[in-house]
Amino acid sequence: MREVPKHIGFIMDGNGRWAKARLMPRTAGHLAGLKALKKVIKGCVEEGVSYVTLYCFSTENWTRPKDEVDYLMGLFSEKIMGELPFYNENGIRLLTLGDISVLPDDARKALLEAVEATKGNTKITVQLAINYGGQDEICRAVNAALAEGITKITPEVIRAHFDNPDVPPADLIVRSAGEKRLSNFLLFDSAYSEFVFYDKLWPDWGAKDVSAAIDEYNSRTRKFGGVKQ
Ligand code: FPP
Repeated sequence: MREVPKHIGFIMDGNGRWAKARLMPRTAGHLAGLKALKKVIKGCVEEGVSYVTLYCFSTENWTRPKDEVDYLMGLFSEKIMGELPFYNENGIRLLTLGDISVLPDDARKALLEAVEATKGNTKITVQLAINYGGQDEICRAVNAALAEGITKITPEVIRAHFDNPDVPPADLIVRSAGEKRLSNFLLFDSAYSEFVFYDKLWPDWGAKDVSAAIDEYNSRTRKFGGVKQ
């Protein structure tokens, strides 16, 4: 029987190249990427995926040109709440992942508002990874545990101090646009993830690509360090 991964993480790469190929500014690629993201979430809902994590802005993305960073922050502040009908029609609960305390006020407020407005939706949970880095996530969790007086750090302690400890580890991590690296994404929770890589640029993605990635996932044998009988 075809197994649907419970949690898929997407590294949405290739927006810049997509725009460049069309002689458009990089920011146009991010807007097109946002449209693709909605199609991909819909595909995940149709497939019965319970959790999706989207790598929207990394702890390293601040080094990009200021106009690109400002544009992305503008997308977070202006586009998130406008999609409320889309989230509610599709049963999407939004969560943020990453240290959003340093975001511009309007972006942070819009994100918190969207999380609050969708908290009753139960079909799928979508984590928006913003100012997210896997190393930062682990350090923040360890520091939070130490601040509570915990002196023995274990994998369970670290996980319990994550932003959203109820979200399970990723079963499948998908990267678009040909690069084969993790780029500081879900470092802790990818310990036993399956990885799939596609050349297609992110703005060209849609529901069919989700289905193809799940097919590829089904060709893998997961052993979690054990032995498959
Ligand atoms: C990587 O492609 C993409 C990003 C750093 C940004 C992803 C953001 C979105 C798809 C928009 C999300 C918006 C909301 C409101 C959730 P790249 O720019 O590195 O592409 P390149 O490698 O071709 O240059």
